[in-house]
Amino acid sequence: MAPPLRTHPMSYTAQRYDFHDKPGDYARLAQDLSGLLAGESDRIANAANAAALIFAALPGINWAGFYFLRGTELVLGPFQGKPACVRIGLGQGVCGAAAAQRRTLVVPDVQKFPGHITCDVASRAEIVVPLLEGGTLIGVLDVDSPVAGRFDEADARGLEALAALLMTASAVRTAR
Ligand code: SME
Repeated sequence: MAPPLRTHPMSYTAQRYDFHDKPGDYARLAQDLSGLLAGESDRIANAANAAALIFAALPGINWAGFYFLRGTELVLGPFQGKPACVRIGLGQGVCGAAAAQRRTLVVPDVQKFPGHITCDVASRAEIVVPLLEGGTLIGVLDVDSPVAGRFDEADARGLEALAALLMTASAVRTAR
C-alpha cells in the first residue's frame, strides 16, 4: 500500500517590502524564503515558491523565474509573469550570457544589451543570477522590470543570497 501523502500545512502571507533598505529587506526576504523551503528538497517545488515569493515581494518588477540547464540549453522553469520563451542557448540573451560567464549580470537597459531576448516588450531592466552548485551550473534566476535602471549591486547581492538558499535546500537528485 502506498504511504500516506505528506502534506505540510502552511499559511503564508506574501509581504511587499519597500526596499528603501535593500540589504535589510533582502535579509528579511531570505528569512521568508528559508521558512518557505524548510523541510522540502524538491527543486521544482522550491523554485516555484521562490519565484512567487520574489514576484510578490519586490516592487517594480514584471517577471521573476528560473531557467534550468538541460544539455547546452536553458529551459524555462517555474516563474511568475507573462509567458516566456522556453529555450535559450548558452551565451544567448542576458540569461545565456550570465549562465555562460557564471556571473550575475545587471542590465540597466535591455535595449542596449546586444542579443537581448524580448519576452515581454514592457521589460526595460533585467538581472540574471547563475545558479551554481559546487561550481556546476544548474540554471539561472531571472528578474525583469519595466523600469530602466531598476537593479543595482544591492539587488545582485540580495538575489544571489536567495539563489544560494535555493541551491542549498534543493538537492540535485530531486530536480529531475
Ligand atoms: N530577456 C531574457 C529572456 C528571458 S525573459 O526575460 C523571461 C534574456 O535576454 O535572456
